[in-house]
Amino acid sequence: MTAPLLHDAVLITGAGRRVGLHLAERMMALGHPVLAHYRTPTDDVERLRAAGAVCLHGDLADPDGGLRLAGAVRAVAGSLRAVIHNASAFAATAAGTEDALRQLDVFHAVHVRAPFALNRELAPLLGACSARRADIVHITDIYADNPNPAFDAYCASKAGLQNLALSFAKRLAPKVKVNVVQPGPILFKEWHGPEARARVLSETLLGEEGGVEAIGMAVESILQNHYQTGAVIAVDGGRRLA
Ligand SMILES: NC(=O)c1ccc[n+]([C@@H]2O[C@H](COP(=O)([O-])OP(=O)(O)OC[C@H]3O[C@@H](n4cnc5c(N)ncnc54)[C@H](OP(=O)(O)O)[C@@H]3O)[C@@H](O)[C@H]2O)c1
Repeated sequence: MTAPLLHDAVLITGAGRRVGLHLAERMMALGHPVLAHYRTPTDDVERLRAAGAVCLHGDLADPDGGLRLAGAVRAVAGSLRAVIHNASAFAATAAGTEDALRQLDVFHAVHVRAPFALNRELAPLLGACSARRADIVHITDIYADNPNPAFDAYCASKAGLQNLALSFAKRLAPKVKVNVVQPGPILFKEWHGPEARARVLSETLLGEEGGVEAIGMAVESILQNHYQTGAVIAVDGGRRLA
């Protein structure tokens, strides 16, 4: 016997840790059925599953990763309340051009190709949402507007993700709102050393890491606001002004 389809579910990509995990937990706490996409199986993914999320595995760096994930979503959901593009690859650009080009391909696949495929393929499910409006949220980076040359390949792909949001806002209105959240220093990577952390915080008006809740609040507010689309919302403690 096949399981009944979920309705008005929220898909979060890269939900296995950090911000994505928080978004999945937050959406579940708000009562949404959650489709938690992940790449690396972790205890947190098992915890999400035990709490009732449908966990969908996939590598979005694969050229067909987005299409495959869209197929997996269609198999379990009859309609979607939101799609949140959170999955992300992040690294400084390699010194050698061949290595840098390989990175560029991965960044493009994860940040542009997969969200592009998912938005196109899942638009009918968003259109079938029982709420007045459905949402797509693209999580980019303040570097999408003000790039750091040491991370140029990453920045360019996040700028692509941001620009795509604006096209989809035009294409899918008025049923589907499409907005961008631009994090700044929300949560340092484990490899950020004390000097890098201190320098970033010294450039941040509010002088501290934002924490995952700052992004959770921004996404929740987007879902609640019926009259906001094509907006780019920085959640960066003011770092973009530095
Ligand atoms: N944290 C910050 O301060 C900050 C600053 C600026 C922008 N952002 C943006 O905010 C979002 C969340 O940040 P975060 O720090 O929580 O990100 P993160 O720790 O880098 O996590 C990203 C997620 O994406 C997944 N992912 C990476 N490559 C993937 C692939 N090829 N296929 C499928 N999934 C893949 C990761 O899965 P695995 O566990 O398998 O690696 C992980 O779950 C990201 O879009 C990030 O770019 C964050």
